[in-house]
Amino acid sequence: MRRAIYPGSFDPVTNGHLDIIERGCKLFDEIIIAILVNPEKQAFFSIEERREILGEVVNSIDRGNCEIRVDDFRGLLVQYAVAQEAHAIVRGIRAISDYEYELQMALMNRRLEPSIETVFMMPAETYSYVSSRLVKEVFQLGGELDGLVPPFVEARMRSKLEQTKPKP
Ligand code: PNS
Repeated sequence: MRRAIYPGSFDPVTNGHLDIIERGCKLFDEIIIAILVNPEKQAFFSIEERREILGEVVNSIDRGNCEIRVDDFRGLLVQYAVAQEAHAIVRGIRAISDYEYELQMALMNRRLEPSIETVFMMPAETYSYVSSRLVKEVFQLGGELDGLVPPFVEARMRSKLEQTKPKP
C-alpha cells in the first residue's frame, strides 16, 4: 500500500493540480490532498470551501484503483505525512523557475524526515503556465477561465465574488 501526500494551498484548485493528481494515481494506491491551513495568508476560499470544492472536482479524475482523500493540515508537512503513514510527498513542477523553490523544500523536508521521499511530477504542457495566483488575477480582472479550472470551480468563484461584493 503506497500512500502519498499532495500538499498545497489549492486556492483555487486548477486543472494543473488535477492533472498531477491523475498522474499520481498511476504511481500510488492512495493520495491525500492536504490543504495547508495558513492563517497568515489572505485566501480567496476558506479551508472548508476548498475542501468541498476539491471533494467535488476529484470525482472527474480517472483514478483507476487509487483512493483519493481530501484533508487539511497545519504545521510541518513532514510531521503530517508521518502521522498519515505516507511514503511520499508529490509536488508538480511546471518550469525551471519552480525547481529552485521545490528543491529547497524537498531537501529541507528530507533533512527533517529522511523516511519521506518527494516525488516531482510534470503536468501536461497545456498547464505549464497555470497557477492559482494567475487564475485569481485573471478572474478578478474579468478574464475567461475556460480550460484553466473546472467549470465548477469557476462557478464557485463567481458566487463567492457575488457574496463578498458590497451591497449597494
Ligand atoms: O501550493 P503551495 O502554496 O505552493 O504549497 C506550499 C506547501 C503547502 C507545500 C508548503 O508551504 C508547506 O509544505 N508548508 C507547510 C510548512 C512546512 O512544512 N514548512 C517547511 C517546508 S520546507
